[in-house]
Amino acid sequence: MELQGKVAIVTGSATGIGKAIATGMAAAGAAVVIDYVGAPDPADAVVASIRSKGSQAMAVAADVSDPDQVNSLVQQTVKAMGRLDIFVNNAGMESKYPFTEYPFELWQKVIAVDLTGPFLCAQAAAKAMIQQADGGRIINISSVHEDLPMPTNAPYCAAKGGLRMLMRTIAVELAPHKITVNNIAPGAIYTPIDADVEASKKIEAALMAEIPLGRWGKPEEVADLAIFLASDAAGYCTGSTFFIDGGMLRQSGSL
Ligand code: BGC
Repeated sequence: MELQGKVAIVTGSATGIGKAIATGMAAAGAAVVIDYVGAPDPADAVVASIRSKGSQAMAVAADVSDPDQVNSLVQQTVKAMGRLDIFVNNAGMESKYPFTEYPFELWQKVIAVDLTGPFLCAQAAAKAMIQQADGGRIINISSVHEDLPMPTNAPYCAAKGGLRMLMRTIAVELAPHKITVNNIAPGAIYTPIDADVEASKKIEAALMAEIPLGRWGKPEEVADLAIFLASDAAGYCTGSTFFIDGGMLRQSGSL
């Protein structure tokens, strides 16, 4: 079991990619904390499912954009599970509007969840890991859009681009503590965030045409990469973005 004895927090892990990562890390032996916002039922269901397979899990409600809630998330984890080895910044949101019509309040909200959240979480996690003096892993779920523009999604792209440089900078700062920091940059993964695309065959076909492998990625495929980056096998990986996009970034269009 690659993650035996490790404790992981995965933000936004009641659904989608986060749920797959939390479930996969638990199956690899880690004790996991399911962070969520809103109704507790989906998070409780993930906890029940993990426990039924014999691993340790608990749910904690915490908004990643609120410093007090983030500090409490880390403190509750260390109190209940004894330590913190892996922090996965997965919680994220997007909302699409043409740039000239983009509402300011929504810009602030997307930046708060997608960029300020990972800053606050990485900071709280790093402090706990430094105190343990035993290294650690910080993994950010970014996007191909940390590199690739996406019209109508300006704040999301700005946040993910910011997350790339946040990761690179803190990877250097935290390296002396043997804490590695990396981004996973998924392309089109079949999850609720893409409900609008999944609902329209035409938009879905246009998206698939952008992907050399010609299909959606699965949350479990992203989870496998996260498990690798969290494991001892990835001890020499830091400061990098690992793309998992079916070749999307290499699509050469009509050429
Ligand atoms: C976005 C999706 C999009 C995918 C590929 C993801 O980061 O959340 O909306 O389909 O990138 O463009």
